[in-house]
Amino acid sequence: MSDVRCNTQLDARRSTLETRNPTLETKMIDKIHIINGPNLNMLGKREPEIYGSVSFEDYLAELKKKYYGIALIYFQSNHEGMIIDYLQEHGSDKKTGIILNAAGLSHTSISIRDAVTFIDAPVIEVHISDVFKREPFRWHSYLTDVCAAHFIGKGLDGYRMAIDYLIKK
Ligand code: DQA
Repeated sequence: MSDVRCNTQLDARRSTLETRNPTLETKMIDKIHIINGPNLNMLGKREPEIYGSVSFEDYLAELKKKYYGIALIYFQSNHEGMIIDYLQEHGSDKKTGIILNAAGLSHTSISIRDAVTFIDAPVIEVHISDVFKREPFRWHSYLTDVCAAHFIGKGLDGYRMAIDYLIKK
């Protein structure tokens, strides 16, 4: 088969795909990094009246069953620099979305904000609790206006909503 014919067939296939969905070939997300910040390794034990009594590992196992076609990769750190390193390392992967609950660092970290601004992957901010019904120092997040969307105060279900947002985008 000549190169010309091959290209023509490819062009025809591409144009059919583009007619159905112009973003299909370029944007479909098949990998999602979930990043949790300080103290979220204690979920299930930490202030259960605010954060619930389910550990993130147990919740993640449910998410993995529900979204079996998507690679869900979990990273938790209590250290600001580790979160920045992780964002830099994975934020330019193709077809990748990021869900970020930077926990207390959301309210303090210009450096995490800078990393979110710099990377290509869409970042969704999640907070388990409704920060606006808590102490005023939790009302401001340095991340909100540089993230593609946010889910706040939905409990752990906020992570599921963030996944749905990323894959339906
Ligand atoms: C949190 C809210 C933050 O204010 C707090 O520091 C956390 C968790 C949440 O998920 O509700 O550690 O991000």
